[in-house]
Amino acid sequence: MTVSLKKPTILVLGSTGQIGRLIVKQLEKNVDVRLRLCSRRREAVEKLREGGKEAVKLDLDDPSTFALALAGVDRAFLLTGYTVAMLTQSKTFVDAAKKAGVKHIVHLGIFGQWDTTDPHFVWHQMIETYIKASGIAWTNLHPNVFMDNLLSATTPKGNKIILYWGTARVGWVAVSDIAAMAATILHQGPEAHDGRDYWMSTEVLDGSGVASILSEITDRSITFSPKGPEDFQALVSAPGSGAEPWYAEGGTDFMRQVADGRMGYIGTIRDDVPYVLGRPALTFREWATKHKEEFLEILSR
Ligand SMILES: NC(=O)c1ccc[n+]([C@@H]2O[C@H](COP(=O)([O-])OP(=O)(O)OC[C@H]3O[C@@H](n4cnc5c(N)ncnc54)[C@H](OP(=O)(O)O)[C@@H]3O)[C@@H](O)[C@H]2O)c1
Repeated sequence: MTVSLKKPTILVLGSTGQIGRLIVKQLEKNVDVRLRLCSRRREAVEKLREGGKEAVKLDLDDPSTFALALAGVDRAFLLTGYTVAMLTQSKTFVDAAKKAGVKHIVHLGIFGQWDTTDPHFVWHQMIETYIKASGIAWTNLHPNVFMDNLLSATTPKGNKIILYWGTARVGWVAVSDIAAMAATILHQGPEAHDGRDYWMSTEVLDGSGVASILSEITDRSITFSPKGPEDFQALVSAPGSGAEPWYAEGGTDFMRQVADGRMGYIGTIRDDVPYVLGRPALTFREWATKHKEEFLEILSR
């Protein structure tokens, strides 16, 4: 029997984003793996290298950057952005990963039922089907709504939280838990996690519940203002919104289907965090307490 002493090389897509950054932080503590970071922006790659990291330019819209980025990679974290280009990006990336001999792909997907009709959920499922067909070992992460959206896209404005699925309850998960799951799975590798789907929906809350916990933690009066899919559509189609039209329509359909009940399952708990991490997932209250200072700063603007 031959035993390989080579450390597995892990490529983290999205290493400059909110999830990827935390994956890198956790994996850097593991001396038994080699990490490769990436960005489509040359200056971001240079900055990572100056910080002593192994980093490569990888642009999912430019397959000519794939071969060098993937050479020698054993495991890859596949994360795409908010655009329909995710389909072509992922197909071409998986093909290149196959040629490069990648042995495990951990994919960041969505919290969708198998027969969902919401466009951007469908795209994620088609990517997962393609990864499975490639023969590369796979693990899919299925997070529900990010708690951390409340610090960015849906942050309180003038002490008011606006959510676009009306008064529906949805499941929330902390980005730090998603990153911890991905990092642990990438570290333990395909022997432990091939062919597994992990679901992450820790706690179910409507907008009033969110506002009430945030009010308590910040000691401020935060209210909830329910809006509907048509408000979301107006927001993302406004000039300068920056939203890609196909993805924006997918987002609007998500709001519609959650609000009218077709995606009622978005308001359910399904929590695989303890199985992988051996600890409970962060509750909304715990997450909000961790981010109290950020909320106080946002509320003071
Ligand atoms: N928000 C939610 O509630 C929610 C729920 C479920 C799933 N998701 C999924 O979460 C994902 C977003 O994760 P995130 O919040 O960590 O992202 P993020 O903070 O917005 O960061 C996006 C990352 O993707 C990289 N990226 C974007 N386009 C790229 C390209 N063409 N080539 C290479 N890298 C590219 C960016 O790197 P550079 O700019 O440095 O190249 C950046 O590191 C999406 O796939 C979304 O579907 C979100």
